Amino acid sequence: MPRVKQICCIGAGYVGGPTCAVIALKCPHIRVTIVDLNQARIDAWNSPDFNLPIYEPGLEDVVRKARGRNLFFSTDVDKGIRDADLIFVSVNTPTKKSGVGAGFAADLNYVELATRRIAATATSSKIVVEKSTVPCRTAESMRTILDANSKPNARFDILSNPEFLAEGTAIDDLFAPDRVLIGSLQTQEGKEACAALSEVYQNWVPKERILTVGLWSSELSKLAANAMLAQRISSINALSAICEATGANIAEVAHSIGQDSRIGPKFLRASVGFGGSCFQKDILNLVYLSESLNLKEVAEYWKQVVTMNEYQKRRFSKRVVDTLFNTITGKRIAVLGFAFKADTGDTRESAAITLIRDFQQERALVNIYDPQVEPNQIWTDLTEASPLVPLATIQRQVFICSSALEACKNAEAVIIATEWAEFKTIDWEAVYAGMNKPAFVFDGRLLVDADKLRSIGFNVTVIGRGERL
Ligand code: NAD
Ligand code: UDX
Repeated sequence: MPRVKQICCIGAGYVGGPTCAVIALKCPHIRVTIVDLNQARIDAWNSPDFNLPIYEPGLEDVVRKARGRNLFFSTDVDKGIRDADLIFVSVNTPTKKSGVGAGFAADLNYVELATRRIAATATSSKIVVEKSTVPCRTAESMRTILDANSKPNARFDILSNPEFLAEGTAIDDLFAPDRVLIGSLQTQEGKEACAALSEVYQNWVPKERILTVGLWSSELSKLAANAMLAQRISSINALSAICEATGANIAEVAHSIGQDSRIGPKFLRASVGFGGSCFQKDILNLVYLSESLNLKEVAEYWKQVVTMNEYQKRRFSKRVVDTLFNTITGKRIAVLGFAFKADTGDTRESAAITLIRDFQQERALVNIYDPQVEPNQIWTDLTEASPLVPLATIQRQVFICSSALEACKNAEAVIIATEWAEFKTIDWEAVYAGMNKPAFVFDGRLLVDADKLRSIGFNVTVIGRGERL
């Protein structure tokens, strides 16, 4: 008899939505309810035409199969909690904007509010699973809150089960994860709770891929994984600067070092800088944790990963200005891609936002095209990036286009900011014909065939490629 029959997931975002939709698909015997306070988000998850709140390849298919069968979306958080045997807490944990630890520490307010709600509502025992990425030992605070506020007969086991999916490949990652990590207290009850969650995953994940560890190791492993992935990108980006200065080619360097089986070939693609809601936030969180543990050198070490990323973005926009004869004032720049990576509509911490802000400050005119990002999101991001500039002023300088070709028309330069596959197959001859001359392309994603573009007539600058032959 399966131990978990009803699951509630608090938080219907990029993690809670896809993760629990896949659980519902793979475990038809479990009723899964995903709850959120955000009515618009829940309405979108429930929309009759499957106009889901996030774009993720394969997600619609999963939701179509499970929604209304054993997958439900609701704003009735209390009912979700009451009915469930197991509750995922999958709320946002952004970097704090003010107060102690501002700019570094994770804002745990949403986790705490969700935890208090569970304590106030639950009338029977529950397994509470920390899905959000949190600082090490957050489970202890959750336990204290739950124990201090629980109703009679309600006891709680707390697990850590961080999520490793990447946006754009979330469904594939969830279907076949490298590993599922479950952290628990090493008590009898803790181990039983861990076994119950493991049983859920075993419906589709091979048992040997389900790792069970202590609670604090699990929490720290999530921060560590993201820090090490981001560190690889900052390392390759640091090398890309050396390539540009020496004539070495970063793609060749990455390939050469990636053949060493100890290093491996993945995550060595030089870029205009990493973005996304996780890397920067989680490293800053690790920096804060290290500082609060009095580990100053450790904090400085990890902070450098973010510093290098900022440098990479600045370096790229400076290269654009330098190459366009030291001024882009009044010049039209086409930015292809606004999402932080391909195959997502998510723009959180996207490098494109920083680049466009830099171009705005140089008083360039900017045309933007992205196949997935909604115009409203672009305006919101650009307004947040330049809080002192009114939206009306931004809209006199920045234009959102509905195709790459339209964005490039009459431009002096094209910037590839996101590695959307469709940018590989643009009709570059037509782009060239429509641009002012000399026509420049800046490839911030190692995406296009630079030699082919040069043969058309473009002046091409590629990240990690020097001018010297
Ligand atoms: P998100 O902002 O997309 O979604 C969080 C949702 O939680 C929001 O819809 C919000 O309305 C809801 N929420 C907040 N407080 C609530 C409450 N008290 N009750 C009900 N709903 C509440 O965030 P996300 O990207 O899904 O990230 C969630 C967590 O997962 C974060 O800790 C993040 O670091 C981690 N994570 C994210 C990714 C990713 O790729 N986005 C990957 C791995 C881990
Ligand atoms: C990341 C982690 O990969 C995932 O395991 C975790 O759960 C959440 O954070 P995500 O941010 O969704 O996932 O995407 P990811 O593929 O890691 O890319 C992050 C950023 O790094 C993107 O801007 C991407 O373009 C950039 N990147 C990635 C590079 O610049 N070079 C690379 O080689 C890989």
